[in-house]
Amino acid sequence: MTSERRFYLTTPIYYVNDKPHIGHAYTSLAVDVLARWKRMAGYQVFMLTGTDEHGQKVEKAAEARGMDPQAFTDQVSQAFRDLASRMNYSNDDFIRTTEERHKTACAALWKRLQDNGAIYLGHYEGWYAVRDEAFYGPDEITEKDGQKFAPTGAPVEWVREPSYFFRLADWQDRLLAYYDAHPDFIAPQTRRNEVISFVKNGLTDLSISRTSFKWGVKVPGDEAHVMYVWLDALTNYITALGYPDENTALWPFWPADVHFVGKDILRFHAIYWPAFLMAAGLPVPHRVFAHGWWTNEGQKISKSVGNVIDPLQLVEQYGLDAVRFFLLREVPFGNDGDFSRKSLVQRLNSELANDLGNLAQRTLSLIQKNCDGQLPAAGAPHPADAELLDAVAALPGRVGEALDRQAFHEALERIQSLSRLGNSWIDAQKPWSLKKTDLVRMASVLRHLHTALRALATVLQPFMPDTMSQMLDQLGVPVQARDLAALDTLLPDGTTLPPPSPLFQKIQDDAV
Ligand code: MSP
Repeated sequence: MTSERRFYLTTPIYYVNDKPHIGHAYTSLAVDVLARWKRMAGYQVFMLTGTDEHGQKVEKAAEARGMDPQAFTDQVSQAFRDLASRMNYSNDDFIRTTEERHKTACAALWKRLQDNGAIYLGHYEGWYAVRDEAFYGPDEITEKDGQKFAPTGAPVEWVREPSYFFRLADWQDRLLAYYDAHPDFIAPQTRRNEVISFVKNGLTDLSISRTSFKWGVKVPGDEAHVMYVWLDALTNYITALGYPDENTALWPFWPADVHFVGKDILRFHAIYWPAFLMAAGLPVPHRVFAHGWWTNEGQKISKSVGNVIDPLQLVEQYGLDAVRFFLLREVPFGNDGDFSRKSLVQRLNSELANDLGNLAQRTLSLIQKNCDGQLPAAGAPHPADAELLDAVAALPGRVGEALDRQAFHEALERIQSLSRLGNSWIDAQKPWSLKKTDLVRMASVLRHLHTALRALATVLQPFMPDTMSQMLDQLGVPVQARDLAALDTLLPDGTTLPPPSPLFQKIQDDAV
């Protein structure tokens, strides 16, 4: 395979200070859908997720539970692994920053930065927010009731300690030149503008080690220091490919095609990370996409309000694929969005049960009843066919185009519009009436609808893997003919289709 056909995509690695919630499930879901799409399009894909286990925040969380940090992180990291399998994510690896391979990679990157003159020893004095694991300048701080806060709302504390620094200020112009030469590096556009103006305002050197606590990767040659947790965490993206060994089978996946992140952590990925990589002489990722944040029924999600959404509970109540579909359908990826049970139930009932589900059920029952469950042959072309068949032929390209921009909602809208077209087409062609007047045309109409359903089920696989696999079973599509290229080959006439059963149930939810 050529290098163009490789695709590497990553989720953020999640802090293990608490159990997984909807925000974590969301970032990984988007990554999973794109990973599955690219595999189906013939790419060699590597999808990475994992847990971010060092730093003061995790150390404090372990302390609060009276646990040793390693035992604590072992336990919480497992909850993220379980989430990945319950949500049916197709990650190829799950990395933990407490693993030896990762410590080796961090130490190697550190040495390379040091050898390249990008690190010096100094003294840090300033504001630090443990919740964000981030340093803030004096102009960013506000005060309320005697407590100082970062712009994110996280409380800050004054830190004064010896520290190694990364010469970030030196990279200001080169970063700006990089953004300029690579307009797709940061998405969406509004976020890109924010990053650029932040960098234009001036960068200061970045403190990259701490001495006031122990829970981190030790700085090589100076073990009183642990590495700043963001330098440690970002390195995970190359650890997983074998760094510092650049001769591994996986190393050709570098640089990453897309790092998916939430908007709150874009600065680390779009400023620090490319600067570290450039300073180390390593290639910079192609793209960083920052998605928005969910609120819950209009309210900011927070532990203290007690409105944290547990993704597994939702799955329990509404089914896995319904939840996967809803999260990417409801909100334009990149925007903030509100989670409401009412809109979840509405979407599932109207788009899955009514539109797609009905189209499948009507078509497949008619084939079962009127064609003995054998896939009918398409008859002579009819002027009405083009409307449906042209839309079917265009579907994979249109979905792929949207997904290449990480516009999941648009991809789903494009899919949805074909389901709607299928329903209006079946109503207009009335195969149930043709049964009495023109059996050949009836067969042809049902065959075209089957072709449309096959395309719909194929392109929906990344979003709803289990349900679409059942739908493809009902459509008689063999397992080896379910990728995008297979759509070019028609199923043989007469293929036996099993008796259909409804794929989506309407939800009656009295609570909404
Ligand atoms: N450990 C860092 C990432 C290091 S990557 C090298 C981290 N972890 S996190 O667990 O706090 O957050 C992970 C992701 O969850 C972020 O992308 C964040 O934006 C996302 N979300 C957390 N709450 C969210 C919502 N309410 N809504 C959507 N996503 C949110 O940051």
